[in-house]
Amino acid sequence: MRQSSPTTRSNRTAKIVATAAIFNAGIICLVFYMTTNQSSPSVLFKQKAEEISPENPISLLFFNRVPKTGSELFALLLQWLQEPNNFLQLRLSGNEKRKLDSMERKEMTINLADDMKVKGGEKFVADRHVYFFDVKEDMTRRFPSAEVKYFSTIRDPVEKAASRFYYSRATSRNQTRLHDTSFEACVAQGMPECRFLDGESYDLTIPYFCGHHDDCLKLNNQWAFQQAKENVEKHFTVVGVLEELNVTLATLENNLPEFFHGVQKLYFDDLMKVKWNYNKERPRGVESAVADRLRQNLTLEYAFYNFVKQRLLS
Ligand SMILES: *[C@@H]1O[C@H](CO)[C@@H](O)[C@H](O)[C@H]1NC(C)=O
Ligand SMILES: *[C@@H]1O[C@H](CO)[C@@H](O)[C@H](O)[C@H]1NC(C)=O
Ligand SMILES: *[C@@H]1O[C@H](CO)[C@@H](O)[C@H](O)[C@H]1NC(C)=O
Repeated sequence: MRQSSPTTRSNRTAKIVATAAIFNAGIICLVFYMTTNQSSPSVLFKQKAEEISPENPISLLFFNRVPKTGSELFALLLQWLQEPNNFLQLRLSGNEKRKLDSMERKEMTINLADDMKVKGGEKFVADRHVYFFDVKEDMTRRFPSAEVKYFSTIRDPVEKAASRFYYSRATSRNQTRLHDTSFEACVAQGMPECRFLDGESYDLTIPYFCGHHDDCLKLNNQWAFQQAKENVEKHFTVVGVLEELNVTLATLENNLPEFFHGVQKLYFDDLMKVKWNYNKERPRGVESAVADRLRQNLTLEYAFYNFVKQRLLS
């Protein structure tokens, strides 16, 4: 297995501008903006494209990223692991639209398959913010023997809500609206960004595992919760938990070695040595009384979080 030299790695690091990194109670959530210059497929992949025959098994890892769960960190790790593990990462567009109708789902899969065909190779990772659906059926129209696996990450629901709040405060066009408002004040004042009502629709974690049905987005919907759990059991090789980063990395390396071999070494030896800009505006931890109030409303989000965490740790 070829290891990239420290020099190539730091060159690649230089391509990536870390615009914000948020430390939160010892948990890292890194937000990266990749430069438009994605690492081009190596010569290796181009050679592979010519050798490919219909019998060659195609392997795809679909990473349907959940926002504010450290997903950019995992996307970055995968980007670095492409070369040593000989796969190609395809970062799909359309991240702002997570709920798709059946035509859009088909279109996404066909476009991805066409892209895989053009780029060539046998192993791919595709990532996008999108609710879960089984891409296998349409994928096998193009690649009859395609093997599709799924991976994603989640995070403590209150921490995730706070992270999303501070992210939108920092990036909002109307700076005056949330200016100087803490997450705690936002919850206390019942502002729409921080209020979670039963049966209303939200882009929380469950839809990323439940799917594209309207009910998947409804807070504390029993059917959505069951559906999400069933999909995790049936389709996801690994669902990582940001609060359990060490176990997540070890499980990825163990259960998906064809993609994640070397990830622990990469993370602890290389990535941790980089100096990041920490977002000092993001306070650490959420006041416990506020967290308790929120937890009462996010009942099934917590039940799902605990289900996934237990599955990871068992
Ligand atoms: C920005 O938010 C403030 C406070 O809510 C509001 O008064 C103002 O009209 C908003 N400005 C724009 C351009 O939406
Ligand atoms: C929690 O739910 C109750 C009852 O629906 C609602 O009145 C309250 O505003 C919600 N609180 C938060 C923080 O979402
Ligand atoms: C995670 O693993 C690293 C490297 O082995 C270690 O230094 C760190 O203490 C571990 N963290 C936790 C929370 O176990």
